[in-house]
Amino acid sequence: MNQRKKIIAANWKMYKDLAEANDFFTFLIDKLPDTNTEVLIAPAFTSLWNAFETTREYPIEIVAQNIHQEEKGAYTGEVSAAMLKSVGVQRVIIGHSERREYFGEDDALLKAKVKTALKNELKVIFCIGEKLEQRKANTHFDLIKSQLQSALFDLNKSDWEQIVLAYEPVWAIGTGETASPEQAQEMHQFIRETIAEAFGSDTAASVSILYGGSVKPDNAQALFSQPDIDGGLVGGASLEVDSFIDIIKAV
Ligand code: PGA
Repeated sequence: MNQRKKIIAANWKMYKDLAEANDFFTFLIDKLPDTNTEVLIAPAFTSLWNAFETTREYPIEIVAQNIHQEEKGAYTGEVSAAMLKSVGVQRVIIGHSERREYFGEDDALLKAKVKTALKNELKVIFCIGEKLEQRKANTHFDLIKSQLQSALFDLNKSDWEQIVLAYEPVWAIGTGETASPEQAQEMHQFIRETIAEAFGSDTAASVSILYGGSVKPDNAQALFSQPDIDGGLVGGASLEVDSFIDIIKAV
Protein backbone atom coordinates (compact mmCIF):
# COMPACT_ATOMS: atom_id res chain seq x y z
CA MET A 1 0.00 0.00 0.00
CA ASN A 2 1.19 3.45 -0.83
CA GLN A 3 1.90 5.30 2.43
CA ARG A 4 3.88 8.06 0.81
CA LYS A 5 3.27 11.62 1.82
CA LYS A 6 1.50 13.85 -0.69
CA ILE A 7 3.23 17.21 -0.83
CA ILE A 8 2.71 20.51 -2.59
CA ALA A 9 5.72 22.78 -2.23
CA ALA A 10 5.86 26.40 -3.37
CA ASN A 11 9.23 27.63 -4.58
CA TRP A 12 9.00 31.41 -4.57
CA LYS A 13 12.52 31.90 -5.95
CA MET A 14 13.50 35.61 -5.85
CA TYR A 15 9.92 36.87 -5.68
CA LYS A 16 7.94 38.49 -2.84
CA ASP A 17 9.31 40.92 -0.29
CA LEU A 18 8.20 40.81 3.34
CA ALA A 19 4.90 42.67 2.81
CA GLU A 20 4.00 40.60 -0.24
CA ALA A 21 4.77 37.40 1.61
CA ASN A 22 2.60 38.54 4.53
CA ASP A 23 -0.32 39.30 2.24
CA PHE A 24 -0.02 35.85 0.71
CA PHE A 25 -0.05 34.14 4.11
CA THR A 26 -3.08 36.12 5.28
CA PHE A 27 -5.08 34.89 2.29
CA LEU A 28 -3.64 31.39 2.35
CA ILE A 29 -4.49 30.83 6.01
CA ASP A 30 -8.01 32.02 5.32
CA LYS A 31 -8.56 29.71 2.36
CA LEU A 32 -6.40 26.70 3.18
CA PRO A 33 -8.33 23.54 2.31
CA ASP A 34 -8.75 20.78 4.86
CA THR A 35 -6.39 18.21 3.36
CA ASN A 36 -3.90 15.49 4.18
CA THR A 37 -1.54 16.93 1.60
CA GLU A 38 1.46 18.62 3.19
CA VAL A 39 1.74 22.27 2.21
CA LEU A 40 5.27 23.65 2.05
CA ILE A 41 6.39 27.16 1.13
CA ALA A 42 9.93 28.25 0.35
CA PRO A 43 10.18 32.05 0.53
CA ALA A 44 13.37 34.11 0.29
CA PHE A 45 15.73 34.04 3.29
CA THR A 46 14.54 37.53 4.28
CA SER A 47 10.99 36.29 4.88
CA LEU A 48 11.75 32.98 6.58
CA TRP A 49 11.42 34.03 10.21
CA ASN A 50 8.32 36.07 9.66
CA ALA A 51 6.77 33.31 7.55
CA PHE A 52 7.47 30.77 10.28
CA GLU A 53 5.94 32.98 12.98
CA THR A 54 2.90 33.79 10.87
CA THR A 55 2.11 30.19 9.95
CA ARG A 56 3.24 28.28 13.02
CA GLU A 57 -0.30 27.45 14.18
CA TYR A 58 -1.34 26.22 10.75
CA PRO A 59 -0.47 23.14 8.70
CA ILE A 60 2.03 25.05 6.58
CA GLU A 61 5.74 24.27 6.63
CA ILE A 62 8.33 26.92 5.83
CA VAL A 63 11.28 25.69 3.77
CA ALA A 64 14.56 27.32 2.75
CA GLN A 65 15.61 27.58 -0.90
CA ASN A 66 19.31 27.08 -0.26
CA ILE A 67 21.94 26.29 2.36
CA HIS A 68 25.69 26.59 2.57
CA GLN A 69 27.69 23.40 2.86
CA GLU A 70 29.97 24.61 5.66
CA GLU A 71 28.79 24.86 9.26
CA LYS A 72 30.10 28.40 9.72
CA GLY A 73 32.95 30.61 8.59
CA ALA A 74 34.08 33.53 6.46
CA TYR A 75 31.59 33.01 3.61
CA THR A 76 30.16 36.44 2.95
CA GLY A 77 26.52 36.37 1.94
CA GLU A 78 25.91 32.74 2.84
CA VAL A 79 23.48 31.11 5.29
CA SER A 80 24.24 28.06 7.40
CA ALA A 81 22.14 25.12 8.53
CA ALA A 82 22.16 26.36 12.14
CA MET A 83 20.94 29.79 11.03
CA LEU A 84 18.07 28.22 9.12
CA LYS A 85 17.10 26.09 12.09
CA SER A 86 17.19 29.15 14.35
CA VAL A 87 14.36 30.73 12.34
CA GLY A 88 12.17 27.63 12.39
CA VAL A 89 13.21 25.99 9.13
CA GLN A 90 13.24 22.18 9.09
CA ARG A 91 13.74 21.51 5.42
CA VAL A 92 15.76 22.88 2.51
CA ILE A 93 15.66 22.66 -1.30
CA ILE A 94 18.97 21.42 -2.74
CA GLY A 95 19.96 20.86 -6.36
CA HIS A 96 17.47 23.14 -8.07
CA SER A 97 18.39 23.52 -11.74
CA GLU A 98 18.72 27.29 -11.33
CA ARG A 99 21.36 26.75 -8.65
CA ARG A 100 23.12 24.21 -10.86
CA GLU A 101 22.96 26.46 -13.93
CA TYR A 102 23.47 30.02 -12.64
CA PHE A 103 25.52 29.39 -9.52
CA GLY A 104 27.71 26.57 -10.76
CA GLU A 105 26.52 24.06 -8.18
CA ASP A 106 27.92 20.72 -9.30
CA ASP A 107 27.29 17.20 -8.07
CA ALA A 108 30.13 17.27 -5.54
CA LEU A 109 28.91 20.50 -3.99
CA LEU A 110 25.31 19.27 -3.88
CA LYS A 111 26.43 16.09 -2.18
CA ALA A 112 28.20 18.20 0.47
CA LYS A 113 25.09 20.34 0.95
CA VAL A 114 22.92 17.25 1.44
CA LYS A 115 25.39 15.88 4.00
CA THR A 116 25.42 19.15 5.93
CA ALA A 117 21.63 19.42 5.90
CA LEU A 118 21.13 15.87 7.18
CA LYS A 119 23.86 16.21 9.78
CA ASN A 120 21.98 19.23 11.13
CA GLU A 121 18.66 17.38 11.07
CA LEU A 122 17.24 19.36 8.19
CA LYS A 123 15.11 17.46 5.72
CA VAL A 124 15.89 17.85 2.03
CA ILE A 125 13.95 18.34 -1.18
CA PHE A 126 16.50 17.20 -3.73
CA CYS A 127 15.89 18.32 -7.33
CA ILE A 128 16.97 16.46 -10.43
CA GLY A 129 16.14 17.05 -14.07
CA GLU A 130 17.45 16.91 -17.60
CA LYS A 131 17.87 19.67 -20.16
CA LEU A 132 16.08 19.60 -23.50
CA GLU A 133 19.18 18.55 -25.43
CA GLN A 134 19.67 15.59 -23.09
CA ARG A 135 16.09 14.48 -23.64
CA LYS A 136 16.46 14.89 -27.39
CA ALA A 137 19.68 12.86 -27.31
CA ASN A 138 17.86 10.23 -25.28
CA THR A 139 20.39 10.49 -22.44
CA HIS A 140 17.86 11.72 -19.90
CA PHE A 141 17.55 8.46 -17.98
CA ASP A 142 21.33 8.14 -17.63
CA LEU A 143 21.60 11.74 -16.53
CA ILE A 144 18.91 11.41 -13.86
CA LYS A 145 20.52 8.22 -12.58
CA SER A 146 23.89 9.92 -12.33
CA GLN A 147 22.41 12.96 -10.55
CA LEU A 148 20.87 10.60 -8.00
CA GLN A 149 23.97 8.47 -7.63
CA SER A 150 26.43 11.29 -7.18
CA ALA A 151 24.51 13.15 -4.49
CA LEU A 152 22.47 10.54 -2.68
CA PHE A 153 23.82 7.03 -3.13
CA ASP A 154 26.23 7.06 -0.23
CA LEU A 155 23.44 7.90 2.20
CA ASN A 156 22.31 5.36 4.78
CA LYS A 157 19.00 3.70 4.19
CA SER A 158 17.56 5.56 7.19
CA ASP A 159 18.64 8.92 5.73
CA TRP A 160 16.03 8.43 3.02
CA GLU A 161 13.31 9.18 5.54
CA GLN A 162 14.54 12.78 5.40
CA ILE A 163 14.59 13.03 1.61
CA VAL A 164 11.92 14.12 -0.85
CA LEU A 165 12.81 14.12 -4.54
CA ALA A 166 11.62 16.59 -7.14
CA TYR A 167 11.87 15.66 -10.79
CA GLU A 168 11.98 18.93 -12.69
CA PRO A 169 12.82 18.70 -16.39
CA VAL A 170 14.73 21.92 -17.04
CA TRP A 171 12.90 22.47 -20.31
CA ALA A 172 9.60 22.67 -18.43
CA ILE A 173 10.63 25.13 -15.70
CA GLY A 174 9.09 28.56 -16.14
CA THR A 175 8.53 27.87 -19.84
CA GLY A 176 4.84 27.06 -19.79
CA GLU A 177 5.77 23.72 -21.33
CA THR A 178 4.91 20.81 -19.04
CA ALA A 179 6.03 17.23 -19.30
CA SER A 180 3.01 15.18 -20.26
CA PRO A 181 1.63 13.06 -17.43
CA GLU A 182 2.98 10.00 -19.28
CA GLN A 183 6.48 11.48 -19.68
CA ALA A 184 6.54 12.49 -16.03
CA GLN A 185 5.21 9.13 -14.82
CA GLU A 186 7.78 7.28 -16.93
CA MET A 187 10.60 9.19 -15.28
CA HIS A 188 9.16 8.99 -11.76
CA GLN A 189 8.86 5.24 -12.15
CA PHE A 190 12.45 5.06 -13.37
CA ILE A 191 13.60 7.11 -10.37
CA ARG A 192 11.77 4.79 -7.99
CA GLU A 193 13.25 1.72 -9.67
CA THR A 194 16.72 3.25 -9.45
CA ILE A 195 16.29 3.81 -5.72
CA ALA A 196 14.89 0.30 -5.29
CA GLU A 197 18.00 -1.21 -6.90
CA ALA A 198 20.29 0.63 -4.51
CA PHE A 199 18.31 0.82 -1.28
CA GLY A 200 15.53 -1.74 -1.57
CA SER A 201 11.93 -1.58 -2.63
CA ASP A 202 10.67 -0.47 0.81
CA THR A 203 12.80 2.67 0.66
CA ALA A 204 11.79 3.30 -2.93
CA ALA A 205 8.12 2.86 -2.11
CA SER A 206 8.23 5.32 0.76
CA VAL A 207 10.08 8.25 -0.83
CA SER A 208 7.83 11.02 -2.12
CA ILE A 209 8.72 12.13 -5.64
CA LEU A 210 7.33 15.51 -6.69
CA TYR A 211 6.99 16.76 -10.23
CA GLY A 212 8.03 20.33 -11.03
CA GLY A 213 7.96 22.39 -14.20
CA SER A 214 5.05 24.64 -15.16
CA VAL A 215 2.57 22.95 -12.86
CA LYS A 216 -0.69 24.90 -13.15
CA PRO A 217 -4.24 24.39 -11.88
CA ASP A 218 -5.30 23.05 -15.27
CA ASN A 219 -2.59 20.39 -15.60
CA ALA A 220 -2.11 19.51 -11.92
CA GLN A 221 -4.71 16.82 -11.59
CA ALA A 222 -3.56 14.84 -14.64
CA LEU A 223 0.01 14.89 -13.32
CA PHE A 224 -0.84 14.07 -9.71
CA SER A 225 -3.09 11.18 -10.63
CA GLN A 226 -0.10 9.26 -11.97
CA PRO A 227 0.89 6.42 -9.61
CA ASP A 228 4.47 7.58 -8.97
CA ILE A 229 3.82 11.33 -8.76
CA ASP A 230 3.30 12.32 -5.13
CA GLY A 231 2.73 16.04 -5.54
CA GLY A 232 4.47 19.04 -7.01
CA LEU A 233 7.18 21.65 -6.61
CA VAL A 234 5.55 24.76 -7.97
CA GLY A 235 7.19 28.01 -9.03
CA GLY A 236 5.16 30.56 -11.00
CA ALA A 237 1.72 29.24 -10.10
CA SER A 238 2.56 29.29 -6.39
CA LEU A 239 2.89 33.08 -6.30
CA GLU A 240 -0.84 33.64 -6.44
CA VAL A 241 -2.97 32.26 -3.61
CA ASP A 242 -5.91 31.08 -5.70
CA SER A 243 -3.87 29.11 -8.21
CA PHE A 244 -1.74 27.64 -5.42
CA ILE A 245 -4.87 26.50 -3.58
CA ASP A 246 -6.31 25.00 -6.74
CA ILE A 247 -3.09 23.02 -7.15
CA ILE A 248 -3.27 21.81 -3.53
CA LYS A 249 -6.84 20.67 -4.15
CA ALA A 250 -5.77 18.78 -7.28
CA VAL A 251 -3.64 16.27 -5.35
P1 PGA B 1 7.72 26.70 -12.48
O1 PGA B 1 8.99 26.45 -11.53
O2 PGA B 1 6.53 26.07 -11.80
O3 PGA B 1 7.60 28.21 -12.58
O4 PGA B 1 8.02 26.07 -13.79
C1 PGA B 1 9.17 25.23 -10.89
C2 PGA B 1 10.49 25.23 -10.14
O5 PGA B 1 11.45 25.82 -10.61
O6 PGA B 1 10.58 24.63 -9.04
